[in-house]
Amino acid sequence: MIRILYFSTARANLTRADVDAIASHASEANLKRGITGSLAYNGRNFCQCLEGEEGQIRALIETIRKDDRHSGFKVLDEKTVQSRYFKDWGLRLVDDLDFSYVINAMSADSRDREPVS
Ligand SMILES: Cc1cc2nc3c(=O)[nH]c(=O)nc-3n(C[C@H](O)[C@H](O)[C@H](O)COP(=O)(O)O)c2cc1C
Repeated sequence: MIRILYFSTARANLTRADVDAIASHASEANLKRGITGSLAYNGRNFCQCLEGEEGQIRALIETIRKDDRHSGFKVLDEKTVQSRYFKDWGLRLVDDLDFSYVINAMSADSRDREPVS
């Protein structure tokens, strides 16, 4: 299983409702593919952490990379993991100004539990 983190910039005219729609569609689709993760949005940029079986994650990352609702897509980090951090979330949408929530998830191990707010 791998966990991956990327950063991108939302298309200028993207609304909060658009972001909500992306997240709710993605959440269901991810669970069907055994993918879990979180999408952080600060009103301008996205930072997303995804985890799952390597082939599924690489295929999804290529789909997301080509999505014209954002640009400047850049993978920041990726690693092999033994267990999930976002156990119950197909895709948790978080409002996060500095992206610390998803960035910290990259270094989580199996002893850590995802904080519930
Ligand atoms: C910032 C961002 C994050 C996204 N995250 C996901 C995701 O985690 N899972 C997903 O299935 N689609 C995600 N999408 C949407 C995909 O790019 C694509 O539109 C979608 O997978 C197509 O789904 P469909 O084949 O059901 O139409 C994201 C899009 C954006 C702009």
